[in-house]
Amino acid sequence: MEESNKNLKLKIKQLKKEKNCLILAHYYTRKEVQQIADFTGDSLALAQRAADNDADMILFAGVRFMAETAKVLSPEKKVLLPVMEASCSLADSCGAEELERMKEQYPDHKVVSYVNTSVEVKALTDVCCTSSNALDVVGSFDKEQKIIFTPDANLGGFINNLTGRNMKLWKGACHVHDAVSVKSVEELKAEHPAAKVLVHPECRAEVVALADYAGSTKGIIDYAKNSDSEEFIIVTEPGVMYEIEREAPGKRFYSISRPNSCVECEYMKMVTLENIYEALLHEEPVVEIDEQVRCAAEKSIREMLKIK
Ligand code: 13P
Ligand code: SF4
Repeated sequence: MEESNKNLKLKIKQLKKEKNCLILAHYYTRKEVQQIADFTGDSLALAQRAADNDADMILFAGVRFMAETAKVLSPEKKVLLPVMEASCSLADSCGAEELERMKEQYPDHKVVSYVNTSVEVKALTDVCCTSSNALDVVGSFDKEQKIIFTPDANLGGFINNLTGRNMKLWKGACHVHDAVSVKSVEELKAEHPAAKVLVHPECRAEVVALADYAGSTKGIIDYAKNSDSEEFIIVTEPGVMYEIEREAPGKRFYSISRPNSCVECEYMKMVTLENIYEALLHEEPVVEIDEQVRCAAEKSIREMLKIK
């Protein structure tokens, strides 16, 4: 296995050089996938990098909404997504037609959408956000401005609590983070009482309430790296363990994902060295987006990038 991974990594390296292809990977992908990426990051950093690079082609090691965002921002480039079925339960919870109906119901509301949405939903959105800039994006609107927040009710509720706003929340959730229980965090805390608890805001409010810090994957990694503490309980998808241990060697990390409470994102794990190699070799599957939809979606993503 090690040997075949080594060979595949070499072949991928050679192909991406020949084709001037940039490989972007999210922290939730497999360790060996993160190892061959040119850049790993959270959703915001990946969108920023997709908008600003001089590659001829982008291969997205992540899920479909991320690859769509890359295509929206770099329409002239071929964008490869090794597995088209790599979806996202949160993005799937928000249909464009339903959102259109909600907008008709609340015509005086602006729409803020988490980037975990389809390109069609982004096209109906005023400003996108990620978990690392949601506070700034929502804060960019007047206090009086009414807002519909899609699709993550946990993240939206978190922002409502922090800002005192009363945004209308789409009732979506990430099946991975929403499944984390208070009990599982408390059990880990009982085993490691000195550990700081770092939580992704896609988790339920009662889980976020246990956090010493709540923020995006990159926020969690940076907090662990810069904190004086030596021990941390990591309450998000366990793919981040690879980067966090690299960034903060010598510190101790306890993932919420354990044999009896596994919180892996099966969509992120669909991307493998094998399908990356095949995608690069054949230059498919390719992400295609209707131009009218792309232009409308681009506005809401660029609005976000202007804010942060
Ligand atoms: P961030 O990397 O922006 O924290 O997002 C988490 C996530 O669920 C991506 O799908
Ligand atoms: Fe979507 Fe949740 Fe997987 Fe992120 S972890 S890609 S939000 S299903």
